[in-house]
Amino acid sequence: MNAWDMEHYQISDTSEILSPALVVFRPLVRQNIDQMIRIAGGASRLRPHCKTHKMAAVTQMELAAGIVKHKCATLAEAQMLADAGVKDIFLAYNLVGPNIQRAVRFLDRYPDVRLSVTADHPEPLQQLSKAFAGRPHTIGVILDVNTGLNRTGVDPESDEALQIYRLMASLPGLRPEGLHAYDGQNHQTDVEERRQAVMRVWEAAARLRDRLLAAGLPVPRIVAGGTGSFPIFARLDDPAIEVSPGTTIFHDWGYGTLFPDLPFAVAALLLTRVISRPTANRLTVDLGNKAVAADPPMGQRVFFPDLPDARQVLHNEEHLVLETDRASAYQPGDVLLAIPRHICPTCAWHQMAWVIEGGRVVDRWPVTARDRWIDI
Ligand SMILES: Cc1ncc(COP(=O)(O)O)c(C=O)c1O
Repeated sequence: MNAWDMEHYQISDTSEILSPALVVFRPLVRQNIDQMIRIAGGASRLRPHCKTHKMAAVTQMELAAGIVKHKCATLAEAQMLADAGVKDIFLAYNLVGPNIQRAVRFLDRYPDVRLSVTADHPEPLQQLSKAFAGRPHTIGVILDVNTGLNRTGVDPESDEALQIYRLMASLPGLRPEGLHAYDGQNHQTDVEERRQAVMRVWEAAARLRDRLLAAGLPVPRIVAGGTGSFPIFARLDDPAIEVSPGTTIFHDWGYGTLFPDLPFAVAALLLTRVISRPTANRLTVDLGNKAVAADPPMGQRVFFPDLPDARQVLHNEEHLVLETDRASAYQPGDVLLAIPRHICPTCAWHQMAWVIEGGRVVDRWPVTARDRWIDI
């Protein structure tokens, strides 16, 4: 199936759907979960990232499919996961400032959750240890490895990596839980090129693991990969590997184009309405940059399967202006479906998702963790 085969996106009655709307096609979400499990080689090897959907209802679908390990980027996402029933949460973010005390409050609130966080510097580790020492719950720490993304993490070949890991293992209140190797730079469309780049990331992480084990330090897990790379990590026969795709749950136009080798379906689209036809060849729709992520370049933030040639010429907060020879075929009020180029920040613009099954709206799901703070 094409990542956006339009026959899957029929909605018989759109009259109650407020636009601009995030519309989620539940059977396609189920299908994507099944594909993630199949590619990972089992639910126990998966640790999906919830940043894409930020929704308890989706988390519960993953739990029902047997996925018990989850990943997130904010404490609000961690809280959404815990409230949805997740007991094993990896917050792949370095805690600093008031987030350290928030983590303490989090574990006071959810004492049966096993929480781990990343770290890549001695200073926050000392603070984390001070906050957790003597408390009833320890916090897991996973050393963040710089895979070449150059965003966070330590050089896996460095002495510093060993020193920080040793510190993690020695400080009270902390549990050393392994390595984090996220390679968001590995977006090569050519599968063999991508495979080679991912294997370089893996080999560097595995060499660091060998050094840590030789030093007598435990390395229970290596959490690795995103959408493009997790199938490659998943093929490695290593019990420490946990793969952490995020976008796969909904998929999007960006990854659909970049990774034609992957079998995921676009499961979340945007429903928008024509609000004006200001000139003979222009259509204005209610899909402003507060309804779809604006991190892709102007003109490429969204794709209209029914108007593939429409040029996006102006994008304001509540307006998207399209230029198309077919403008006269549309009236104000007409509905269009659009595929976002980048679904993850798009979801964060929406308070709720309209859930479609069998061509009908069957539910509405809150996007709970779009907020950075819930109540911890
Ligand atoms: C740390 C981390 N892990 C996993 C993911 C998921 O990657 P993807 O969206 O490519 O599936 C991301 C995405 O930004 C991430 O930042």
